[in-house]
Amino acid sequence: MRLIVDSADTEKIRKMFEYYPVSGVTTNPTILTKSGKKPYEVLREIRGIIGPETDLHVQTLGEDADEIVHEATVIKRMLGEKTFVKIPVTREGIKAIRICAQRFGHITGTAVYSTAQAYLAAEAGADYIAPYVNRIDDLSQNGVEVTKKIQNILGQYAGKTRMLAASFRNVHQVIELAEYGVYSATVDPDIIERMLTNDSVDAAIAKFSADMTSAYGEQMVMTHTD
Ligand code: E4P
Repeated sequence: MRLIVDSADTEKIRKMFEYYPVSGVTTNPTILTKSGKKPYEVLREIRGIIGPETDLHVQTLGEDADEIVHEATVIKRMLGEKTFVKIPVTREGIKAIRICAQRFGHITGTAVYSTAQAYLAAEAGADYIAPYVNRIDDLSQNGVEVTKKIQNILGQYAGKTRMLAASFRNVHQVIELAEYGVYSATVDPDIIERMLTNDSVDAAIAKFSADMTSAYGEQMVMTHTD
């Protein structure tokens, strides 16, 4: 499963790309406001960090299809070919997805809470569908199960429309979907860091080191060849 960084915090994005096997960045309007910068200022900074060939997802705000299509055109012009325009899957959004899919592609259907929305967005020509796992849980439904059902629907689109599972609160939700074989998930950097937080791992590594030190009387690393 491809792991995408759900953030506009440029320091965290830098760190994620330095340490972790991540493949892109997603943003939404709320995430952009948290950066404290103007939208295109931070988006261009992110594009500079990840380079022109890495996927960047940017959301529209328009309320009708014409406005959304216009925003999509500007987003593509400002941020380049490998920018996916996130369009909320509403009635106007579906109209806009159909138009944008014909004109330039690279569309992510977002704010997906149901299998029906996912189906319509895929049929309209979206490249990615972004179900909101945790927000679905918050509605007292099962976000992972809804996402698995969407995955089954996307199986009929022969790879044309792929999953970009979104909105996670914990590692368990992410890994359940990895087990199910979903194509990609966008995850907050703090949750990505938590994937490695495990006291047993730290204790095991400390014990290996302590065994070497007690046997050879010095802090060993395997560059000591004599
Ligand atoms: C994708 O980019 C979505 O906008 C995002 O994952 C939503 O996450 P949240 O529910 O934690 O706000």
